[in-house]
Amino acid sequence: SLYPLLATVAAYLLGSLAFAVIVSRAMGLADPRTFGSKNPGATNVLRSGSKPAAIVTLLLDALKGVVPVLLVRHLGARWGLGEGTVALVALAAFAGHLFPVFFRFQGGKGVATFIGVVFGIHWGLGLATGATWLIIAFFFRYSSLASLVAAVFAPAYYLLGHRVAWDAHTPVAAALAAMAVLLAWRHRENISRLLRGTESRLGAKKA
Ligand code: G3P
Repeated sequence: SLYPLLATVAAYLLGSLAFAVIVSRAMGLADPRTFGSKNPGATNVLRSGSKPAAIVTLLLDALKGVVPVLLVRHLGARWGLGEGTVALVALAAFAGHLFPVFFRFQGGKGVATFIGVVFGIHWGLGLATGATWLIIAFFFRYSSLASLVAAVFAPAYYLLGHRVAWDAHTPVAAALAAMAVLLAWRHRENISRLLRGTESRLGAKKA
């Protein structure tokens, strides 16, 4: 059937909406690709000084991960879509954020969309992953470090939650692991700044 392919393409197109750029433009703020880390993401929008713009960016970038995954999970059965399509759609929304067709394939680091996708896969998994991000961010004050730790823990939580029952859960587990690897790769500059001690802390303004 063509439905898995159609769902995957739709999720990729939705993921390609770089809300950091769209929201900043709509709210008359500077383009996040021109200051701070230059990353089109909620963390960098926060450096513009607008908390509301950062929160709206975070929510919309997360929603574009949640919505396609929930649609496939809850309406997919009647179209013959199973766990394999859940995994594909999750990866596609995430890949759209990293490599957006509408923005010359120059996207973000995928944190909000990853957390959205994770909430779509299982709300408890989303809560655990979101709480991991918040705890690390609270104690260390680095958005990037919180994102890296949350991304590593999400696939682990998923496997623990399923008591490592590989059979039915392999596609989603593999998609989560692949997203964690891509997310870490997109944070390679953040990782070297963290190691050098030059990473900007949450709450610091644009530089
Ligand atoms: O939202 C991505 C975050 O983990 C790092 O963002 O702007 O500090 O590179 P940034």
